[in-house]
Amino acid sequence: MNAAHSDAAVETDDRLAPPDPTRAAAIDTATNDMSTTHTATSDLLVVANRLPVDRTGTAADGTPIYERSPGGLVAALEPVMRATGGAWVGWPGVAGDAGAPFESGGIQLVPVGLSAEEVTRFYEGFSNATLWPLYHDVIVQPIFHRSWFDAYEAVNRRFAEVAARHAAPGASVWVQDYQLQLVPARLRELRPDLRIGFFNHIPFPGYEIFSQLPWRRQIVEGILGADLVGFQRQSDTTNFLRACRRATRLTTRSQRIAVPTGEGATRVVRAAPFPISIDSAGFEALARTPEVAARARRIRSDLGDPATVLLGVDRLDYTKGILERLKMFEELLEDGQVSASDTVLVQVASPSRERVEAYRALRNDVEVTVGRINGDHGVVGRAPVHYLHQSFDRAEMAALYLAADVMLVTALRDGMNLVAKEYVAARHDEDGVLVLSEFAGAADELTQALLVNPHDIDGMKEQVVDAVRMSPSQRRRRMRALRRRVAAHDVGRWAQSFLGALAGGGHD
Ligand code: F6P
Repeated sequence: MNAAHSDAAVETDDRLAPPDPTRAAAIDTATNDMSTTHTATSDLLVVANRLPVDRTGTAADGTPIYERSPGGLVAALEPVMRATGGAWVGWPGVAGDAGAPFESGGIQLVPVGLSAEEVTRFYEGFSNATLWPLYHDVIVQPIFHRSWFDAYEAVNRRFAEVAARHAAPGASVWVQDYQLQLVPARLRELRPDLRIGFFNHIPFPGYEIFSQLPWRRQIVEGILGADLVGFQRQSDTTNFLRACRRATRLTTRSQRIAVPTGEGATRVVRAAPFPISIDSAGFEALARTPEVAARARRIRSDLGDPATVLLGVDRLDYTKGILERLKMFEELLEDGQVSASDTVLVQVASPSRERVEAYRALRNDVEVTVGRINGDHGVVGRAPVHYLHQSFDRAEMAALYLAADVMLVTALRDGMNLVAKEYVAARHDEDGVLVLSEFAGAADELTQALLVNPHDIDGMKEQVVDAVRMSPSQRRRRMRALRRRVAAHDVGRWAQSFLGALAGGGHD
């Protein structure tokens, strides 16, 4: 087994070189032999649960097949890493050995392997059945299992070890999201020379909710291994600072937390909001291509050229408010406020976390509801809801956005929601109306959207009817303002401001 392979494998025997950065550098310069002792190191490392590509199979000649992995994190960070270069440490999405690092699109990808049991306990269990519901305001009940936390600790340690091995002396390491909250502290133990940033893509809950977590202290201490901690919203930052005071009894002052380092000394960690965004120019350029425009026209004609196309695009996740959205649409049809003869709802619900029980239950409920609406309100050749349990590429998404008169982003809770920003970026025609949940992080910035409380079905109905009937001039006025915001605050600016603050020692 070569060195590059062994550091990422699931088995632990020969994973990690001693935490001495000068030694790593000495090895690099002493040999060019990649297959024996050389491990390529980078000045910028992203560490995320998933790589930007998932391993989806193996070709006949034995080479692995990769496809772009799901979710907003990858959509946002991939263009940044393509532009800056560097390495990306992550899981390739299937259980088993990691395989060797490889290059894709100018990014060095360093796989971290998870065993089948770790996928169950770390990914499906602690990450997505404990932390995910807890951090999304307990929309479903979080499940607490000690064995899941043990797996979370072990996997976080492995990610930290792989990152320590691939970071150049003094490198910046940017750890992403709730699956890896223990990585900053583990990494600091191994490599005190690094600048470590942590960004949480999902909400950070209020202390009354966070304090339910039996391991709340360990989580806060894990995050505080970073120099700079970023959140989507000011409210997430405030919640985290309070968790620092309550769970670890540390002192905070404004955005700063004083972390004791022994013998009376302290290290200052900064926590601040850095709202994430998209590659807005890139997405707009895609939406402007003749192919995408033609595809958008085709989508509308395939739908029967209805007067109004409503669109929802989500991972099939209970945080996204899909059931509430369907209920709202069903009531509009029942009240006669919209008619199935001229209005269509297209709901893309991309498959997600399919072995987690709450996700299976949601899929069942959504499919029963869609079936009922179509059964009650459809006619031959025309179904009011077009439900697509599939993932689509960016070009198809851009075409769907262009085809949609009203975009429904009605999440019950969402860190940011990049679909809302993609819709705005795609609408170079300055048309279309965005209906946006006030519980999505995007609501802080996209104030010209029609904001809704997704729990308030009557309120949502009113806003959707307003959206459908809005005059062209009003639509244009709102869309222009939205587009100015999304164009000016793109993902490049997000990454620059975070990495700039990190380079400055985390201070502003
Ligand atoms: O930020 C939310 C998030 O968990 C990301 O980390 C991830 O990219 C996305 O949702 C999709 O989730 P998963 O990796 O579990 O499919």
